[in-house]
Amino acid sequence: MSEEVTTRVQVRLTVDGTPVEQEVEPRLLLVHLLRDLLGSTEVAVGCDTSNCGACLVAVDGEVVKACNVLAVQARDSDVATLAHPELAGPAYEAAAAALPVDRLPCASCRGGAVFGVGEWVERGAPDGAAGVRRHLEGLLCRCGAYDAIVDAALEAAGTPAPARKEGGA
Ligand code: FES
Ligand code: FES
Repeated sequence: MSEEVTTRVQVRLTVDGTPVEQEVEPRLLLVHLLRDLLGSTEVAVGCDTSNCGACLVAVDGEVVKACNVLAVQARDSDVATLAHPELAGPAYEAAAAALPVDRLPCASCRGGAVFGVGEWVERGAPDGAAGVRRHLEGLLCRCGAYDAIVDAALEAAGTPAPARKEGGA
């Protein structure tokens, strides 16, 4: 009879500016390290299929789905979450400022929106409103607040939002 042996791995990283060290199972996802072991409740989980984008964070400045990355892959990295998006750079700070909680109906997608918008702004905000809509295609907002997110993105990029017809996109 064979006994399953689980090797645990020591992971060191910085989360929102604070150095942390944690022993984890090799298969543990970054999102579970952040939320369950480190208490980063600002990191949301919106699906179990890696499709909603709610769990976006920045790892060494690169935006990733925290449910799509193993905790061990983030070893020795700097992780910025919705608690401190400014640590990912000025574009993310601008995105967070343009998307306060009360601009969104429920804000459960706010982490994804802030990091998605921040990434688009950091890339030079290409193609205006159409460009940000394309960039955010993987973001699921169950409240359908895409217009508010696009307007906020344009503001974060320093571009005035276009006038929009009542009820239109
Ligand atoms: S929780 Fe990561 S994509 Fe939905
Ligand atoms: S505001 Fe509710 S999911 Fe986006």
